[in-house]
Amino acid sequence: MDLIDKLQTEGMLTEDEFCRLLWTEDGEIRAKLFMTAQQIAIENFGKRIFIRGLIEFTNYCWRDCFYCGLRCANKKIDRYRMPNEVILDCCRIGYEMGFRTFVLQGGEDHYYTDEVMGNIIRAIKHLYPDCAITLSLGERSYRSYKELFAAGADRYLLRHETADSLHYSRLHPPSYSLAVRQDCLYDLKSIGYQVGSGFMVGSPYQLTEYLAKDFEFLRKLAPAMIGIGPFIPNKNTPFRHQKAGSLELTLRCIAILRIMFPKANIPSTTALGTLHPEGRLHGILSGANVLMPNLSPVEVQEHYTLYDKIAGVDGSLSHNLELLSNQLAPHGYTMVVDRGDYVPEKTNQ
Ligand code: 5AD
Repeated sequence: MDLIDKLQTEGMLTEDEFCRLLWTEDGEIRAKLFMTAQQIAIENFGKRIFIRGLIEFTNYCWRDCFYCGLRCANKKIDRYRMPNEVILDCCRIGYEMGFRTFVLQGGEDHYYTDEVMGNIIRAIKHLYPDCAITLSLGERSYRSYKELFAAGADRYLLRHETADSLHYSRLHPPSYSLAVRQDCLYDLKSIGYQVGSGFMVGSPYQLTEYLAKDFEFLRKLAPAMIGIGPFIPNKNTPFRHQKAGSLELTLRCIAILRIMFPKANIPSTTALGTLHPEGRLHGILSGANVLMPNLSPVEVQEHYTLYDKIAGVDGSLSHNLELLSNQLAPHGYTMVVDRGDYVPEKTNQ
């Protein structure tokens, strides 16, 4: 039994085995990793790719994460908040193009109290009751998560970023803690959200053992969604001179996660598309089943700069969708009109 068989049957490897798999130069094992992951994705989803419409509605952030261009210490970006009508416009355009999930993503912006956020959620749900709403608003209190769930939010994305607390402390200011982050994720889950977590691949100071810890943490959390992408430096952050994460390592992580979590919704992220013009296609071929095109108006996209742009993923929505479907079509994949909810594995436990 090789490492892939073990991963598939047990859903887990030891730290040392994960590290070996992530760096193996054995071409057969590598090919088997990607092939197995792709087959599992096809068995569970067919060649159907779920699409989520990303709405980056505020780039204000009071946090100061060292890797992120939205950090409050960055005075070099123009900050914006989308008026509610613009958010609803994004939804309308998205709905007409077949999107049935809207992802409201922003920096941690105190302007968006539970009341303000709740009103936005209710307005979207009123107009588009057949759509799912995913929130990606960072850390909030249990009470707040509960209120937003009651307002109609279905899912929540909050990457844990790294499951090693020392590493976490090298990516964030001293007062931020991995434990708090993880508690938020458990809170979200207990409230009833479909929860997504994830991490950056190749972030500064990352060791391969930390990736093994990320897999272990995700095993414990059992999330409905897992978002990962390569770290990409941003010129207005302390990590401006750090190296970007690699495409190969990111794809191997996606493949491992698909084998560990056959039913999870795994996006092929914008960061992958930023690293390489066909990065998102490679993500799909490595087991991802979700794409998250940007519904934000092009004028605001240039201000939502988590990282520097390398390969182009900006441009109009229709241009982007066409580009993606042209990449997917030769491989038999199509984007579908579907909420794409998480359907958990049946277990006997
Ligand atoms: N490179 C790659 N990903 C980043 N993120 C933030 N900054 C960067 C960067 N420089 C990711 C984080 C965050 C998500 C919204 O974007 O993982 O959770």
